[in-house]
Order: sequence, then structure tokens, then C-alpha cells
Amino acid sequence: MRRDAHGSALSGRHVLVTAGPTREPLDPARFLSNASTGKAGFAIAAACVEAGARVTLVHGPVSLTPPLGVDTVGVTTALEMQAAVAACLQSAPPDAVVMSAAVADFRPAEVSTHKVKKADAAHTLTLVRNPDILAGLGAARGDAARPILVGFAAESGHPVEYARDKLRSKRVDLVVANDITAEGAGFGSDTNHVWFVEASGVTELSMRSKRAVADALVEWLARRLEGAP
Ligand code: C5P
Repeated sequence: MRRDAHGSALSGRHVLVTAGPTREPLDPARFLSNASTGKAGFAIAAACVEAGARVTLVHGPVSLTPPLGVDTVGVTTALEMQAAVAACLQSAPPDAVVMSAAVADFRPAEVSTHKVKKADAAHTLTLVRNPDILAGLGAARGDAARPILVGFAAESGHPVEYARDKLRSKRVDLVVANDITAEGAGFGSDTNHVWFVEASGVTELSMRSKRAVADALVEWLARRLEGAP
């Protein structure tokens, strides 16, 4: 593996990492979101910067301190995350994009400018699909080799099967799969048990810290960026 004089596996590379949830407003007081804390993505950003990469971290609302040396862009909604990713691709095209953010699949069709009152016993909410940011990057890349694209599959059962589907449907190089219902592997946990799912096969990484998963991902990125299969 290529390393510079300091042993930095990603020296000279630019990695775009997304992290955390997105938040989709309903009215000035309420939103739809998910349980992502951003820990996995922040650990990946830290591991990449320590491996010598330039790192851009686009993150949703989280209460974590960004790692030193990382360029951060804070966003709220999926549409804002999509725009921030597009701006990064245009201004400083990354060698790799790691989409660890838990992007909300849906957003309210309408956002009320006033707080919705509980006058009615029931309230119907209409949701519309958010764009799939990662699938958009896969489609735009087509058959080109760069940027390397990494996605995540946080599933409640059968994570490897779902990850294989995402690998194909989103046209990415690697999907990091985990089972969020397994002990020590869910949102907010400091540990994870994951599978690296790629076209050439599946590698299981037994339970370890999210930072150790991030270090394994750095090794994978360094090998891939060198052109190894
Ligand atoms: O399809 P699913 O949401 O399970 O796929 C998860 C992967 O796709 C993650 O890498 C996530 O960051 C990305 N994703 C995305 N845009 C969405 C939904 C998911 O980029 N709207």
C-alpha cells in the first residue's frame, strides 16, 4: 500500500464523508428524523484525516465535535445535504465519497409556516420521496472509476442481502452493512459489527469500535485508490 514518509495511507487524497441524520421540517416546531448520532461518520472522518487525507465532512444535526483538520459543512435537510455534496463535487472533486449519513427517505409534502394545532383528533401527513443522493452519484459516475463510492446499509435483519441489492441498484463500490437490531451495533453505539460487501465478495468484521471499523475502511480505500481490485 502506498504510504508517504509518515506512513499516511491516504496522503494527497480528498475524501468526502457524510454523517448523521437529516431533519425534515413539518412546521416551525416539529420535524421528521431518525436515530443516527453521526458517530460512525465522524469516526470515518477522523480516521481519514489521520491517514493524511483532505476531508470534507457534510453532516446533519449532531452533537459531536468535528475532528481537528476536517472541513465541515453543517446541513439540516436531505435536499441541503444533496446541494452540499454537489457543491463539493464541483469545487474540489473528491477521490472517494463515503455516504454514512442516514438520509431521510421522505419529507413532508408541505411545510406549515405556523405551528400545526391539535384541533382535530387525527391529522394526515403526506410525504414525498427525497432524492437518493448516493444513487445519484452512482448514476452520474456511470462507468468512470472515480470517485470511489461507499454506501451504508443499516438494516433490521438480512443486512448482507440488502447490501448486495444496494451495491447494484446504487452502482457503488462498497456497501458497509450492519444489523441495527443486534446488540452493540445500532445507532448511538460506540461499537459495530459490519460486513464489507463488494462485487468481489463479502468480508465480515467482528464486533469492534466504530473507530476500528473506520480504520478498516481507510485501509480498503487506500487499496482501492491504488487500483487494487
Ligand atoms: O436505501 P437506503 O436508505 O437503505 O441506503 C442507504 C445508503 O444510501 C446510505 O449510504 C445513505 O447515506 C444513502 N442514501 C442517500 N440518499 C437517500 C437515502 C440513502 O444517499 N435519500
